[in-house]
Amino acid sequence: MSRRRHKGALTGTVSVPGDKSISHRALILSALAPGAGRITGLNTGSDVLATVTCLRRLGAELQLNTANHKVEVKGFGRAAEPRDVLDAANSGTTLRTLAGVCAGIPGMSVLTGDDTLRRRPMARIVEPLRAMGAVIDGREGGTLPPLYIRGGKLHGIDHRSPIASAQVKTCLLLAGLSAAGPTSVTEPRPSRDHTERMLLAAGVPVAREGTMVTVPGGSLPEPRDWVVPGDLSSAFFLIAAAVLVPGSDLTITGVGLNPTRVGALAVLRAMGADIDWAVDAEEVEPSGTVTVRHSTLTATTIEAVSIPGLLDEVPALALLATQAEGTTEFAGIAELRVKESDRIATMTAGLRALGAHVDAEGDVLRVTGPAPLSGGTVDSQGDHRIALSFAVAALIADSDVRITGWSAVETSFPEFLDLLAGARRKR
Ligand code: S3P
Repeated sequence: MSRRRHKGALTGTVSVPGDKSISHRALILSALAPGAGRITGLNTGSDVLATVTCLRRLGAELQLNTANHKVEVKGFGRAAEPRDVLDAANSGTTLRTLAGVCAGIPGMSVLTGDDTLRRRPMARIVEPLRAMGAVIDGREGGTLPPLYIRGGKLHGIDHRSPIASAQVKTCLLLAGLSAAGPTSVTEPRPSRDHTERMLLAAGVPVAREGTMVTVPGGSLPEPRDWVVPGDLSSAFFLIAAAVLVPGSDLTITGVGLNPTRVGALAVLRAMGADIDWAVDAEEVEPSGTVTVRHSTLTATTIEAVSIPGLLDEVPALALLATQAEGTTEFAGIAELRVKESDRIATMTAGLRALGAHVDAEGDVLRVTGPAPLSGGTVDSQGDHRIALSFAVAALIADSDVRITGWSAVETSFPEFLDLLAGARRKR
């Protein structure tokens, strides 16, 4: 994939495919519900399709129409022993959240994934699930997939997670639904709260107090219909492109604006970007409109406390920081080392290859700008958010940028190039 400089500003109004995190949850909660429900606006990237495949193996009936992003689900209520290995492919959310479902099944489940996912840490879910009563093994003492889970009689726990992770929280809350007694998860900082909102909307009396979330044991979500808003994390690549490409003036409608997800918009505004956003529908999840214009940026500091609210946007923000005056610092980003790639390493290497000034030390990343970007070859390491960040970099680089591992965009945002081309044609 290669692109040339300033081929065109991004203008007009676009909408983006459905939110990946909310799509996984809508599917899982529908499968856990004893009855029928419909999901509209489903993200149909390969991560979400992995959840579809796994839920079918667990006994859910899913009629998926990928062309119109709709799915009809007949839930299983309590899941039965899966008929085969559950393959989460590249999707950490699929593997970790379904591990929570499997822990409640009286039977054996095996969860695995692709080369990348089989390198990602699982002790964060395995240890608390064992504390709830599940028997779990896996590679390296159960710290890496494949994971073997013999579930069944669980009891609720009060888990204090050392990291802010929505995947860990969701895993334990889902396990908690089939446990005896309540299950609580407390995080050091609030991670995205889609699971809490959606469980509440499905009739599960979730209690929230500070960063502690509690579900009662022995409950099931009710069947219902879900509408998935556009994915702000995907939209953010178009937002970054609009900020960087002169003459851009872009509006994105129907995009999720959950307060636990909008951190990157606030950072962009703090960097001086001409950006506005407004919620225009408040259902289970708030959604609305983002407008953004080409802007000159100044550096900023992003404290560790803000990271969970912009976790998936750090790669694109690092790219934006290369064009900001001064040194932008991202603190407390250790979790980025264990995403679909070591994002600190992949962004540092790639941005340097294009001539940017980047330093990484432990869990801190510093980017000094503005630096003109050159062409070159960058390796996404099969990580969708890295590939997409460099596709945006290519729009302002002075010659071609070659991105290896481009097919990784299939996991979350296969529509990116078409949407970008559409926004650059509009006048
Ligand atoms: C996700 C949570 C985040 C995020 C990931 C999706 C989710 O990971 O990075 O892309 O849907 O729960 P954490 O578990 O680190 O919060």
